[in-house]
Amino acid sequence: MSFPKGFLWGGATAANQCEGAWNVDGKGMTISDATTAGTLTEPRYTTYISKDGKPGKAMMFEELPEGAHRAVLDGYYYPYHEGIDFYHHYKEDIALFAEMGFKIFRMSISWARIFPKGIEEEPNQAGLDFYRNVFEELKKYNIEPLVTIFHYDLPVYLEEKLGGWNNRDLIYYYEKYAETLFKEYKGLVKYWLTFNEINNVIMMKSLLPNYPFEKVQKDLQLLHYEFVASARAVKRAHEIDPNYVVGCMIAGGPSRYPLTCDPKDVLLTQETLQENTYYSADVMAQGEYPYFAQRIWRKYKANLEITDQDLQDLREGAVDMVTYSYYCTNCASTHEVKEKAGGNLDMGAKNPYLTYSDWGWSFDPDGLRYSLNEFYARYHKPLMVVENGLGAVDILEKDGSIHDPYRIEYIREHIKAMDKAFDDGVDLLAYTPWGCIDLVSASTGEMKKRYGFIYVDRDDTGKGSMKRYKKDSFYWYKKVIETNGKDLGD
Ligand code: BG6
Repeated sequence: MSFPKGFLWGGATAANQCEGAWNVDGKGMTISDATTAGTLTEPRYTTYISKDGKPGKAMMFEELPEGAHRAVLDGYYYPYHEGIDFYHHYKEDIALFAEMGFKIFRMSISWARIFPKGIEEEPNQAGLDFYRNVFEELKKYNIEPLVTIFHYDLPVYLEEKLGGWNNRDLIYYYEKYAETLFKEYKGLVKYWLTFNEINNVIMMKSLLPNYPFEKVQKDLQLLHYEFVASARAVKRAHEIDPNYVVGCMIAGGPSRYPLTCDPKDVLLTQETLQENTYYSADVMAQGEYPYFAQRIWRKYKANLEITDQDLQDLREGAVDMVTYSYYCTNCASTHEVKEKAGGNLDMGAKNPYLTYSDWGWSFDPDGLRYSLNEFYARYHKPLMVVENGLGAVDILEKDGSIHDPYRIEYIREHIKAMDKAFDDGVDLLAYTPWGCIDLVSASTGEMKKRYGFIYVDRDDTGKGSMKRYKKDSFYWYKKVIETNGKDLGD
C-alpha cells in the first residue's frame, strides 16, 4: 500500500447544495435559488417572471426569454432553499467529519453571502462571519479547508443586470470577491479552487437538446473571461499569501474511451477530450491556450476577444495544482450507438465492459487510475481527486442504521485505483469523495440520490427531521483513514 504519510483524506460539498438558509443574514439571491426539483426523467427548471409579468419556466441552463427575471413562484419546490441546513448544523456536521478522521474538507463559499448582488463596495459582515466560524470549527479538529470560490451559484444580479460571464466586467467583480476572501481568511485556509468544473461551459452543448451553434461561440468567449478571472485570482492569492495553493477544478478528467478500435473512433475520442477537457485544463495549468484551440475556434466560427494583457494574466496565473471530479467514464463512437449512457455532464455510448448505477453512471475505477496518469503526465503538477462517489438510494432502518455496501464497494475500488496510481508515480495530494454528507443532487435536485457517509433525514418533497445518521460506510471510511488506506475491509 502506498498512500504517503500526510495524505489528505476527506470529503466534499458545495454551498448551494447543502447550506440552505438561502435568504438569511443578508445573503443575496443566486441563480440556484430559482431552480426547482426534478428527477432522472423530469428536468429541473429555472422559474421566472417574464417582461410582461407572466410566470414561466425554462430548463435549467437554458437562457431565459429576453427581459425575464428569476423568481420564486408558488406551486414549485426549491430544494436548495433549505438544502440540508448545513448553515445551522455545521458544528454537528464537522464533529462527524472529525470523528471519521477527515484531514481535509472541501466546501464552497456562496458569493452572494459575501457580496449579495456581486457589485457592492463592502462585503456583508454576516456572510464573512459565517465562513470564519466554519473555518475555525474545522481548525479545532485540524481539518484543512479546501475552498471552492465559485461553485455554480452566481448572484442573480450579476447574471441578469450584467449578463453574467458574457460580460468582461465579471472578471473585475470576481477578482474583488476572491481578493476579499484571500485577505479575510489568511491563516485559516491554505487550499483554494477558483471555479468548480470550469469546463462544464463547453460540455453543456451535449446536455441540452438542439443547443444553438451560435451559443457555443458565446460560451467560448465566456469561458475565456472565466480563465482570465481565475488567473488574476491565482496571482492575487500568491501576492497576499505565498503559502496559498490554488488549483483548477475540471469536470471528469480524461474519462472517455473509443467505443471500438476503429481509428475514426480513436480520433473522435481524442478530439472530444481536447475540446471538453484539455482545452480548459491546459489553459489553467500551463498558462496558455493549447495548439488545438485554433481548430476549435475555427470549428465554431468563434472570433474571440483576447487582449495581450489577458495572455499575460493567463501566463502569470497558472494554477499550482490540478484537481478534478471523477465519477464515471463514457465512450465515443462514429458508428450508430445502440445504447447510450448517462454521466456527470457528459453523455456517451454505453461501455459493454462496465456496470451502471441507477442513474446510469458507469462504475469504472480503472478509469480513475488512467485519468490520474494522463493528467500527471501532461502537467507534472500535484493532483487532487476532489469529487468521486456513488449516488444511490439508501434505506434508513428502524434502528437508525443504514446498510450501504454498494457505496463501500464503489469507494474501495477507487481507493485501490489511486493506490495503483501512486505505484505508477503520480503525485496525488488528496481525496475528497463527493457529498460526504447527503445533500441535494445538482443534476436532478433530488435528495434520494445520496452520496454521503452520513445520512440526512430529508426527502424529495422537503419533509424530514434533518437528523443525521451514520451509515455503515461511515465506520468503514473511518477505518480507511485511520490506517491511511491500508485496511479497506475486504
Ligand atoms: C459535479 C458537481 O458535477 O457532480 C456537483 O460539482 C454535483 O455539484 C456532483 O453534485 C454530482 O452530481 P449529481 O448530479 O449527482 O449531484
